[in-house]
Amino acid sequence: MTLTATSDTPVAPNTRLGAATQAVAAFFQHPWVAGIVRLSAVEDSLRLLHPMLSLTQPRARVVRIVHETADTKTFVLQPNALWHGRRTALAGQYVQLQLEINGRQVQRLYSISSTPGARCFAITVKRQPGGLVSHYLHAQVKVGDVWAVGQPEGSFVLPATLPPKLLLLSAGSGITPVMAMLKDLQARRYPGDVVFLHVCRNPGELIFAKRLQAIAAQYPELSVVTHFDDISGRFGPEALQLAVPDVAERSTYLCGPSGLMDAIHQHWQAQAYTAPLHSERFVAFPLLPSSAPGTPVNVSLASSGTQFVTQGNAPLLVQAENAGLNPKHGCRIGICRSCQCTKRSGTVENLQTGELSSAPNEAIRLCISVARSDVTLLL
Ligand code: FES
Repeated sequence: MTLTATSDTPVAPNTRLGAATQAVAAFFQHPWVAGIVRLSAVEDSLRLLHPMLSLTQPRARVVRIVHETADTKTFVLQPNALWHGRRTALAGQYVQLQLEINGRQVQRLYSISSTPGARCFAITVKRQPGGLVSHYLHAQVKVGDVWAVGQPEGSFVLPATLPPKLLLLSAGSGITPVMAMLKDLQARRYPGDVVFLHVCRNPGELIFAKRLQAIAAQYPELSVVTHFDDISGRFGPEALQLAVPDVAERSTYLCGPSGLMDAIHQHWQAQAYTAPLHSERFVAFPLLPSSAPGTPVNVSLASSGTQFVTQGNAPLLVQAENAGLNPKHGCRIGICRSCQCTKRSGTVENLQTGELSSAPNEAIRLCISVARSDVTLLL
């Protein structure tokens, strides 16, 4: 990936503009003012004036598109003042994008692939066969487009105090968060020993090839190792052990397809390595079929005073939508936590774990929770 100097140059955060925007938003939310003019109407007017203008919504404009490989592009994004990632983002975190595709609002999470603290940030997207959003990003998006974005999130980050030896291990598009980590290590002048091991099918699929070369040329403590499955056979724990003989001593950051991640985790356990293994999964755990009988139960929304009755045993998010409500949501598969709310009372079944839970005042995700009794939600 070749980001421009502008996009990777750290700048002082524009905190004053962000604070001023928040103050104006608070003014419009004051009960006296809200009685005269609705914030949503102000937002609509601002959006008509310019798509980046908002009092409440972080937005970002596509300022550059970099072709990385035949099916991978990097989108360099310039955010508005409401995006606080310029001062808070950590390497390895992700953002949620909200896009309108064929009149439908869709959300997806993407790792930030650029250096934290830069004026612009970047996401790098591989086109997935049949993937609605990745295909749209590749085929339709152009410089100048504006997207609604979330704030940086995620705990797959390097520690403030770095260990003496690191392994950044990735496969396929899992390279994006660890690439951000590598740039961060370079920016922090990490003096320790770091191996960057990436797995993909062939050299043509190596994302960030030139950028990796450039970093390696300036960074003597870094070893870049590539494994091409088409040439060397399928990568697994044995290949890892051969490529990185001292793997047991390295704090490892792993991101890639589920199969590889599962194999590496099992290897860590089988070998009883004590060096920590951190990993990031963007693939949801498969949802289990609900064992709920599907008997109708009452769902009360305590904040809005609404109620509805469930039908069948679909998750609470779907039940609420079937009842004509529109709860906040994102991925719909249990990853992004956009739909998380407090369950004040009642029993729910978690479709990822199959567990039943009746604890009062617990956080649940509506998209993976099925009501097993009458429930009250703080919504
Ligand atoms: S919508 Fe993303 S976790 Fe529920």
